[in-house]
Amino acid sequence: MLKLENLEVCYGSIKALHGISLEVKTGEIVALIGANGAGKSTTLRTISGLLKPSNKDSKIVFKEKYIYGTGEGSRKYESMLPHKIVEMGLSHVPEGRRVFPEMSVYENLLMGAHSRKGKPGQADFDRVFHHFPRLKERIKQMAGTLSGGEQQMLAMGRALMAHPDLLLLDEPSMGLAPMLVEEIFHIIEDINAAGTTILLVEQNAHLALEISNRAYVLETGEIVLEGRAQDLAQNEDIRKAYLGE
Ligand SMILES: Nc1ncnc2c1ncn2[C@@H]1O[C@H](COP(=O)(O)OP(=O)(O)O)[C@@H](O)[C@H]1O
Ligand SMILES: [Mg+2]
Repeated sequence: MLKLENLEVCYGSIKALHGISLEVKTGEIVALIGANGAGKSTTLRTISGLLKPSNKDSKIVFKEKYIYGTGEGSRKYESMLPHKIVEMGLSHVPEGRRVFPEMSVYENLLMGAHSRKGKPGQADFDRVFHHFPRLKERIKQMAGTLSGGEQQMLAMGRALMAHPDLLLLDEPSMGLAPMLVEEIFHIIEDINAAGTTILLVEQNAHLALEISNRAYVLETGEIVLEGRAQDLAQNEDIRKAYLGE
């Protein structure tokens, strides 16, 4: 579904990603784990078109189409804009949620559907409420007055309104109480089971590995390990560095 090849990204003169490659297959949950500053958010922002790679050999292929770069089967050099990428079926839930605080839950959800053709109907809302019943109870509430966990649910619900085939989640557990973290991770599994492929960025490596099929470990802009999530969870180095053992 998604393939990154040799992705290199700079902020000014500082290189944040040193040519990373990774793949997410249809139906998978793939975790991208790594310490603070490793380049996880940079990776997601580049996939969704908010940042552009700094080398011309970087390639981002989504559903067999180049959203960045060029190669076999594509005649021109592609560098798609974020809204175009959302239209193709890729939604991004950014780090720190970024809901619209002065808008109601309903209005926030409506914003998530604006990239879609046609007006969102009750079925679109019902699909979100199925995963997040709490949002239904708070439909008229201003988003800024929701708890952190509810704002995370709203950010994810907003992304689902666009009917993504691939959902990018940036640290959904950040700042949440342990019980809520568990709840959010269960919902991520449910969303995946209902047919959405997921690329999950997390500092909470323990839970991320538990719900993922495969994982990549990012260290200062480089992929240093990859494999089946259950194998990485057993790996000595991973246990020491990321699982606090
Ligand atoms: N807007 C920015 N300007 C300059 N440097 C940045 C910016 N955002 C991130 N960086 C740097 O890029 C590196 C990777 O950051 P980031 O992708 O946010 O890491 P992570 O999400 O894994 O914590 C870090 O060294 C960070 O300081
Ligand atoms: Mg980050």
